[in-house]
Amino acid sequence: MANVKDVLGHFSGSKVLDVATGSGSFIHLLLEGLRGWTEITGIDTSERAQTAFTEAFKGQKKIHFVKMDASKLDFADASFDTVCIANSLHHMPDPSVVLAEMKRVLKPGGRFVIFEMCRDGQTKTQMTHVLMHDWWGLIDSAEGICHRATYSRQEILALLEQLNLVDVQVHDIHALGEDPLDPAILAQLGPVIDRYQERASRLSNAAMLCARGEELRKRIKTIGFHSATELLLTGKK
Ligand SMILES: C[S@@+](CC[C@H](N)C(=O)[O-])C[C@H]1O[C@@H](n2cnc3c(N)ncnc32)[C@H](O)[C@@H]1O
Repeated sequence: MANVKDVLGHFSGSKVLDVATGSGSFIHLLLEGLRGWTEITGIDTSERAQTAFTEAFKGQKKIHFVKMDASKLDFADASFDTVCIANSLHHMPDPSVVLAEMKRVLKPGGRFVIFEMCRDGQTKTQMTHVLMHDWWGLIDSAEGICHRATYSRQEILALLEQLNLVDVQVHDIHALGEDPLDPAILAQLGPVIDRYQERASRLSNAAMLCARGEELRKRIKTIGFHSATELLLTGKK
């Protein structure tokens, strides 16, 4: 079974763009795997992301944050050797526009990297993650934040196909080795559920959303939790 570090280890990064970078979690994976990177730029629209990113990469002069909308990248054509988007396509109002922008700023021969969770082919314990993610999406959407339900594998592959890349690779990434009923998991996820429950309680469909939150809490304790399989898609422009 592939892992992100090994897949990225086959590529040389040079000048890298991480779109919708958040606090830069995917950049940590890039740093572990990608060879030969010279500079990494993370872009995101969120101020909170900017603060967390800046703190996470304090003192790292070759890793920068720029506040920017993924659907209108303020970079010249062919500016980067590697472009990445992780866990974020389902947050974009029009993912095709974002992917087209990423392709525009990628140099010919440069590498595209997409990392995105999918809903099908998951075990029962991984489905806990998918269902939780869908619940987060419902609450965010009710508050006006773009957050779709988890894509199917076919939907993600269809987005990739639009890019007409070459040397395309599709890897399934999962970590099913851990104990799905480890009490530490509930200790970690409990406060996340609490935060979403608090937000759900203020929405017009609070009763339904809060009931789903409690079902998820029960599911974590009875069925357990594993992170869902993510697709790691790579290809060259
Ligand atoms: C689930 S987070 C993923 C963060 C990171 N890539 C990771 O893998 O942990 C989704 C991110 O997309 C960002 N985002 C949403 N819409 C955006 C847009 N139009 N342009 C740039 N970033 C956006 C959000 O602010 C958030 O940080």
